Amino acid sequence: MTLMKAVRIHSYGGPDVLVHEDVQKPEPAQGELLVAVHAAGVNPFDWKVRTGSVKGVRRLPLIPGWDVAGTVESVGAEVSRFKPGDAVFGLLSVVKDGAYAEYAVAKAKNMAFKPRSIDFVHTAALPVSALAAWQSLFDLADLSSGQTVLIHGASGGVGHYAVQLAKWKGARVIGTTSGGGIDFVRDLGADEVIDFRNVRFDDRVRDADVVLDLIGGETQKRSWQVLRKGGILVSSVEITSPDTDARYDVRQKLLMVHPSADELTRIAALIDEGKLRPVVSRVFSLADARKAHEFIQSTDMQGKAVLKIRD
Ligand SMILES: NC(=O)c1ccc[n+]([C@@H]2O[C@H](COP(=O)([O-])OP(=O)(O)OC[C@H]3O[C@@H](n4cnc5c(N)ncnc54)[C@H](OP(=O)(O)O)[C@@H]3O)[C@@H](O)[C@H]2O)c1
Repeated sequence: MTLMKAVRIHSYGGPDVLVHEDVQKPEPAQGELLVAVHAAGVNPFDWKVRTGSVKGVRRLPLIPGWDVAGTVESVGAEVSRFKPGDAVFGLLSVVKDGAYAEYAVAKAKNMAFKPRSIDFVHTAALPVSALAAWQSLFDLADLSSGQTVLIHGASGGVGHYAVQLAKWKGARVIGTTSGGGIDFVRDLGADEVIDFRNVRFDDRVRDADVVLDLIGGETQKRSWQVLRKGGILVSSVEITSPDTDARYDVRQKLLMVHPSADELTRIAALIDEGKLRPVVSRVFSLADARKAHEFIQSTDMQGKAVLKIRD
């Protein structure tokens, strides 16, 4: 049995349930790649799984972290698009182990070639957050040039991509954030930034075409009235009141992000063209995964946190 280092959870709870240990190195099956992990993105989904609150992902022990960037170590049967040594990135399947490990198995059809102009750490900051922003704005809301979009949580992992992608599309962007996020979101190109701790966004915004809600709860409840008639709210978190669309004459959709090699390839191209940039605010080692979880659960973090696993 060949061993590798990984971080696993054996029980649900706080960051201390993340255990750095030796586990069996996986093998790629048909249609899969074995990826030598250079970096793994750290996401709110990871800590939600860690606490046991994601109903669809409750199995133990489990390696968290489904954003991967690395090099192809070997390929399973019927894989022709990739070969050993290729630099790749993508979103792993949540029904399998994740990327807080030296090696991870990925479905070849979900993987894309790494952008040439950024390193593995920045590449690992892309998959779920950039796909969530892309799929919310373009696949679900059909955002077009000249429209106005209000982005709640604009300084976070998903929000900082959404601000840039919406500007690239030619939309007018209003972002809500606080603290250090205010200058950050302005620097990303937002036309207006609202400090949600001091200003009620529903006093400031009217007739938005799209609301991207990355927060839920009270923030969502106050968002219906800022949409124009026929406008759309896309939430990555929840739909709090299913009958609201009829009352306000607006539409609502819940994001369920899905892997897409095609969309990752378009995102990689935008990065290499200098039109989109991932922001990584902290890098941790694999052994420090606990600290990474503590960090992303604290406030005033901009952009992403990433585990760097090898050079
Ligand atoms: N459904 C899906 O497929 C899907 C996909 C991706 C993500 N998600 C979910 O979407 C949510 C956002 O993900 P993320 O990765 O962007 O999280 P994140 O990196 O933690 O970012 C959230 C941001 O929201 C800000 N914030 C907190 N309260 C706010 C408020 N009331 N108004 C405006 N901004 C506020 C925080 O800034 P402060 O520093 O000011 O607190 C933080 O920067 C998470 O719940 C995640 O699990 C769902």
